[in-house]
This record gives sequence, C-alpha cells and structure tokens, in this order.
Amino acid sequence: MCGIIGYNGKENAIPILIEGLKSLEYRGYDSSGIAYFTNNKIKIFKEQGRIEELEKILVSDDTNIGIGHTRWATHGRPNNINAHPHKVGNVTLVHNGIIENYHELKEELLKKGYTFKSETDTEVAAALVDDLIKTKENIISGLAKLKNILKGSYAFAILFDFDPDNIYALRYGSPLIVAESSIGNFIASDIPAILKYTKNYYLIDDSIAVITKDKIKFYLNNQEIHKEKLTFNHDIMSATKGGYSHFMLKEINEEPELVDKYLKYYLNNLELIPSISKYKKIYIVACGSAYHASLIGSYLIEKYLNIETKVELASEFRYKKNFLKKDDLVILVSQSGETADTIASLRLAKETTKTLGIVNVVGSTIARESQEVIYINAGCEIAVATTKAFTLQVLTFSMLIYKELLKIDPELSKEVLNDYNKLSQEIRKLINIDYKDIVNKISKHKDVFFIGRLIDYYLALEGSLKLKEISYIHSETYAAGELKHGTISLIEENTPVISVLTDKSIYEKTISNIKETKARGAYSLVIKRECLNIASDVYDDLIEIPDLSDLTTCVLSVIPMQLLAYYVALNLGYDIDKPRNLAKSVTVE
Ligand code: AGP
Repeated sequence: MCGIIGYNGKENAIPILIEGLKSLEYRGYDSSGIAYFTNNKIKIFKEQGRIEELEKILVSDDTNIGIGHTRWATHGRPNNINAHPHKVGNVTLVHNGIIENYHELKEELLKKGYTFKSETDTEVAAALVDDLIKTKENIISGLAKLKNILKGSYAFAILFDFDPDNIYALRYGSPLIVAESSIGNFIASDIPAILKYTKNYYLIDDSIAVITKDKIKFYLNNQEIHKEKLTFNHDIMSATKGGYSHFMLKEINEEPELVDKYLKYYLNNLELIPSISKYKKIYIVACGSAYHASLIGSYLIEKYLNIETKVELASEFRYKKNFLKKDDLVILVSQSGETADTIASLRLAKETTKTLGIVNVVGSTIARESQEVIYINAGCEIAVATTKAFTLQVLTFSMLIYKELLKIDPELSKEVLNDYNKLSQEIRKLINIDYKDIVNKISKHKDVFFIGRLIDYYLALEGSLKLKEISYIHSETYAAGELKHGTISLIEENTPVISVLTDKSIYEKTISNIKETKARGAYSLVIKRECLNIASDVYDDLIEIPDLSDLTTCVLSVIPMQLLAYYVALNLGYDIDKPRNLAKSVTVE
C-alpha cells in the first residue's frame, strides 16, 4: 500500500526522495509524487504510473528538505490529481491509510470555504490540518488534536509553508518510522527505504515527530519525550536483490538458511515459544497466505495436541459474532504485522482473551500489541508474493507443537528433532529441481485447478494463490472430495490439475479424485510425498517431496509450488515482484 518517504539533511533531497520511493515500490502503487522546499517555497511534482514517469517531469532544484509518496488508490482513480502530495492553504501532506469520516469532515470544511480538487480523503486531511494550524507555534498542539478528530488509519508526513526547516510526522494504525543518519534525517513507511544510510531507527508510536536537519524530536501531550533507538539487525542484503533477478527468487533461495537459523535459535531458546497446551480452544486469525499457514497450523494442533482450533479470516472475524472465552487463545499471524483487519481482530480479541502474535516485522503493530509474540525472523520480505515468511509461519506452528511433544510424546519429539536437522538441505534439493518442462505446460493455460484433502488442501490453497497473484492465470483450489459436487464440469481436455498428496491418512481418496479428472482429459501434475505409492497412470508429471515426519514435511511441500508460480510468471514475462493491483502490506480494511 502507499509508501511515504521524507528527508531533511545536507544533500540534495530530490535524488534521495526518488531513491527512497523506489525502495518502497514493492508495497504496490499506481502513482507517485514529491514535494520540497526550494528558496523557502514549496514545489510539488506528481505523476500517474511508475516512478520513472515522475522522474521525467522533475527539474533540478536546490533543496535539502522534502517528502515523497507512492499511492495505491483507495479514494478516487489513480490519476495525477488524486496523487499525493496534496497542498491546501499552508499545508502540504502525504498520507498512508484511510480517513473513514472524511465525508463529514469535508462537509464542514466546505462550509468554511475550503475547495477540493481531488476525490481523496487525503486532501480533506490537508484542509483539516490547515484549518487547525495557522502559525508555527501551534503546530504541535494542532497536530495533537487530530487523534480526536480523525477516524480510521493514517500515517502523515507534513510540510508547512511557514516552517521551511522542518518535516512533521504522525501516525495511527499505519506504519511510519523515523531515522537519523550522517547525511540527514528520514521518515519512511518501512526500513528498506533507509537502510542505505543507517540501520538505526525510531518508532513514532503515538507521538508527533519533528524531523529537523540534525535532530529528531518527539512530542506526546505537547511535551517533548525521549524515545529508544532501535537497530535493524538483519543483513542489509536482505533488502536488496543480491544478484537474483527478482526478490521473490532471492527470498525462496533464502529459505534453507533462514530455516536453519530459525531452528538453531528457537531450539536453543525454547522458552521463547509459549506453551499452548493450557488453552481449551484456540482461534487463529489471519489474511491471505498467513491464513493458509494458519489452516495448516490448526490441522496439526488438532491432530497432535487435541485442542479444538478454529481458523478465521481477519476480515470476517472482526465483524461477526464471536464466542471467545477468557481461557481461549487467539493467535494472530501476519508477516507485516500491519494488516488492518488482523490488527482490528487482535484488538477485539484482547477484550476477552490472551493473544499471541506470529509476526515477521519487528516492532510492528501486531508485534507490539499482542500479549505474546513469536518473531519468525525472515528478514525483509520485499516481493509481494510471500514465500519465506509463509514457510517460517508454518515452521512456527510446527515448533509450537514440538514444544508440547517434548512433554507428551518424547519419542515423536525425537523424530521431529531429527527431521528438523534435515530440513534446510531438503529445501535446497527442492529449489534445485528443474521445473522447466512443467512450467512450459502450465504457462499455456488460462485456468488451473489445485486439489488436495485436509492439510494437502490447505497447502494447495497457498500454491494456487501464489500462481494466480503473479502469473494472472486463473486458478481454483478444491478440497478434492468436492470436485464431484460441481467443479468437475470445468475439466476439459488438457486442463491442468495440480494435486497435493502428502497426508498418508487420506491420499488414496485423493487419488480416486485425480483419476476422475484424468478420465475427463485433465493434465495431471502430482506433488507427492516420496513414500506414497501411486500408479503411473495417475499423473503426467510428478514432483516428489522428501518423506520426513508430518511436522517437517508440511514445511517442505509448498516450496515446489512457490517455484512453479515464480517460473510460470517469468515465462509469461510479468513483473513478478510487483503484481498489478496488489500491495505488500494491506494497511486498509
Ligand atoms: C500473499 O502472497 C500475499 N502477499 C498476501 O496474501 C498476504 O499474505 C496477506 O496480505 C497477509 O499479509 P500479512 O502476513 O502481512 O498480514
């Protein structure tokens, strides 16, 4: 979703802002813009489309202070007028989030004589700030009032005509960090935008940040406050492509090492994995791929720990009647830790029960607001299509169960530990398979089906999501037993049917379903666990997953599907890391 960058320092701000915007491209956007002070006057440039289009209209100017924005349209079409920054009166502002009460605010501001050029909620916010703040002395107290007026979520970077030396930043529900470096100070939506200059940053939280040329100040309740400096501990390489043609391929290739590091870290610090056996019922709430990882987690928790576990889509859970009890646990799974619906579900759950976040981004809202948190330690994930974070989310569920097995089934826990030690090398083998032939076959088609039962259905859901989000091939997932209830009518000569067969308890049933699709002409690609016997007439192509215990095989099975999706999208020539209409972090509901 929208990306914000701000710079105040010694260097020319224009190339720094553009570079910052490019490092936030992965968040998804459809227009971009910058505003800066030159000779104490504001200049604004904005353009629809890629940042390269914005670069074409820029002029060279002497400036050391400015703000920039990549917009992912929510209110109004992606065009030049709706692009940020927006200037109203003395205020120039960029915004990430959604102002839910912008209609009412707009009515009031229209009565006061304000006029609006765009369809955006952001221009309304700019007018509101202009209405509230008329002099430099009132800036902090005026900005503090926004919390009680605005409904929804926001992160703002603001310039005032009457204060050409400072940038102001504040947030509620949308991410924003600030950072000091030797060349000047920054505001950014995410860490990759500042990593070239510094690894140290601050969270703004509830405060108002004032970014001067050589200092960052924080204010809360009109008083200056002190904030702890944080350090981004991952390798700087985790935010660059490191020689790979795409972030997605690089991130898949990081999986063996990350899994290795994760296991070493948590197996040596098992006290960081909370015990879940004391809960009567567990809810797991998430969106997208994190939801699929949760389905896998719930299946395994029920199977191995006998705890009833319900998985909910965050965008539904937050609005429906809930039956939470105080001795339940709600687990929130999110790579970014900033997904709006998952945050809302967390806040709702906290009213009644204990909460546990499974999160990647350190210091993100879900990480901070959950009572307990397990960091998956995937480093920066830039590609919109999540891969390494998904794998580590599934591994985290495996680890939650492993911790309990140590007490209730030491024999099985030994087997799992033994297999954990093999995981990274097995992932590497799956990455090295030659997928070319299969990729050529699948790339030709407009529709693909994924099938599986139980855990294999949940894995298939993730495989299908990966394929459709980056290759734009329509793909559906069916619980294999459901095919006969309607979908099988869609199978034509050569329709690809990708079947996942890893669950020993149910795979034979799925084989019957595959045969039904083959009998109707389907091309059958089977992704199966090595140990399962299947006749050669069940598949046209076969990918085998090493036969480790259930709690480790679940981590492996998705890797071939991540790679298939990647290579199909590559074959079709799509912009793999930035698929159309999608954003990395969905910070609006
Ligand atoms: C998957 O490739 C997507 N990027 C998407 O489904 C993602 O998993 C979802 O938006 C949830 O994001 P989160 O993990 O940051 O909460």
